[in-house]
Order: sequence, then C-alpha cells, then structure tokens
Amino acid sequence: MENINYQELAQAAINAKAMSYSPYSQFQVGAALLTKDGKIYTGCNIESAAFSPTNCAERTAIFKAVSEGDKEFLAIAIAGSPKDTEPDYCYPCGVCRQVIKEFAADDLTVIVVKTAEDYRIHNLGELLPHGFGLAIST
Ligand code: THU
Repeated sequence: MENINYQELAQAAINAKAMSYSPYSQFQVGAALLTKDGKIYTGCNIESAAFSPTNCAERTAIFKAVSEGDKEFLAIAIAGSPKDTEPDYCYPCGVCRQVIKEFAADDLTVIVVKTAEDYRIHNLGELLPHGFGLAIST
C-alpha cells in the first residue's frame, strides 16, 4: 500500500480514543485519518445528553479535515471499545461508512485497530459494497 504507516495510524487512533467524550454509552472510539499529503487528522466520539447529536469518531476526524481544506484521503484507522475493557476490533457504523464514501473511493484503506500491533486492513469497497454516491467533484 502506498505510503501508509499502519502502526503509526493505529497508534494515533488509540491516542484519539483517550479523548472520547462518552458519558452516556461509556463506549470510547478514536479515529485517525491520513491525507494524501501525509497529514493525520484525529477524532473521537462526542456524545450529547440529547443522544442524537452524538458524533462518531470517524466523522469528527473527517469534519475536522474537510473544514480545514483537506478532502483527499488515503486511509482511516479506527479504535473503539467500552471504557476499561480489553480492546477489540470496532468497525465503523453505517453512517460513518457513508460519510467516508463522500470523500473517498472504494480503495480507501480502513484499518480496524485492536492494538498498535494488531489490526485488520480493509478497504471502503469491502465495508460499503454498492454504496450510494454522487460523483460531485469540487
Ligand atoms: N461510535 C463511533 O464513534 N464510531 C462508530 O463507528 C460506532 C459508534 C460511537 C458513537 C457513540 O458515542 C458510541 O460509539 C456508542 O455507539
């Protein structure tokens, strides 16, 4: 794979998970998004007492990147588990898969992280086959 340091991205997702604001679910998630120029944007899940405004870690990272002018991505790593439990693989929710698709082709690498040494490598096409998208170029 082109210029992807899996361990570094996995560790960045684990570090971002520590910032999770999840008093309602106690489920902590971190994400690390790698741009084509090698920059990493991180994000965590941010919950709300009203529940529905909750934002997933993946979308936090993507929205940070897009709002700062970056829209070209190579990979995203995701680390998530209930607070104070052993880490396990945490796959992105359907909403986040759709938002990732908004800014990436099927070959975007998705790293599902258990630890910095133990992760699974997928691509978006595997996780969101036959997904819906308008190929709007901006
Ligand atoms: N969550 C994420 O951050 N990413 C996902 O892909 C799945 C779910 C968060 C949302 C909520 O704060 C908590 O995990 C439990 O659903």
